[in-house]
Amino acid sequence: MIDLKGKNAIITGAARGIGKATALKLAQAGANVVIADLNEEASKATAAEIAKATGVKAIGVSVNVANAESAQAGIQAVVDNFGSIEILVNNAGITKDTLMLRMKQEQWDAVIAVNLTGTFNCIQSAIKFMAKNPNGGSIINLSSIAGVNGNIGQTNYSASKAGVIGLTKAVALEMAGRKIRCNAIAPGFIATEMTDAIPEKIRTAMVAAIPLKRAGQPDDIANTIAFLASDISSFITGQVIEVNGGGFLPGVQA
Ligand SMILES: NC(=O)c1ccc[n+]([C@@H]2O[C@H](COP(=O)([O-])OP(=O)(O)OC[C@H]3O[C@@H](n4cnc5c(N)ncnc54)[C@H](O)[C@@H]3O)[C@@H](O)[C@H]2O)c1
Repeated sequence: MIDLKGKNAIITGAARGIGKATALKLAQAGANVVIADLNEEASKATAAEIAKATGVKAIGVSVNVANAESAQAGIQAVVDNFGSIEILVNNAGITKDTLMLRMKQEQWDAVIAVNLTGTFNCIQSAIKFMAKNPNGGSIINLSSIAGVNGNIGQTNYSASKAGVIGLTKAVALEMAGRKIRCNAIAPGFIATEMTDAIPEKIRTAMVAAIPLKRAGQPDDIANTIAFLASDISSFITGQVIEVNGGGFLPGVQA
């Protein structure tokens, strides 16, 4: 049984999709949660919904993880409101897909800024507080199957998500002495508004290529995150868990 009572968490990009499902899952397990997303209204609405459904403390804040000061303010909000931070979920992420030959510098920069630098910003700020906890903390980073295998039309995204894996392993080694664990999850195709943007024909082909023959759901990822956030995974650090129904064939996505 996953028990997160007494732990305080921040989930970035939690106003919708995988982040929202994760915030709800952690709250159901007893953690207080900060919902950190670009839009303050959406963050607060999600927090109110989760507080009502679970009875934990939940607050919503406006955070742009790509901006170091904004990321710091988000982490500070956890400590100011709840007293300490034990769980950081780096979930905020964007895509700007196009073939390498057509990719503009802004498309490359924007994806690296949010997916990779944003993850760095939140970790750097959170570990200063987690290092003061007697039992450290748990950091969970969202990588992707594209970061493991590469993907056509996603050189920027694949590079950012591969970078997240290297960052995860280095942080795990640096912070192990403080009992701060750092792991990554590499989801395959998960049905969210992010993947709704993929043309239907391609989406159908992608799902057909998954060995378990279904799209992943946000809860599939949220369950894995709750496990990594909890003390039952206390001997696991520096790992990448692939949650993808057995994977899909490289090159199916446009
Ligand atoms: N859906 C998938 O198939 C899939 C597969 C592999 C990995 N992932 C990763 O999982 C994570 C969540 O994906 P999703 O499908 O739920 O995406 P989504 O687009 O539905 O939600 C992402 C959330 O992040 C927020 N966000 C974007 N930029 C931000 C910023 N700079 N600061 C703070 N918040 C920001 C958005 O407002 C949004 O609420 C992402 O990191 C994504 O790359 C998703």
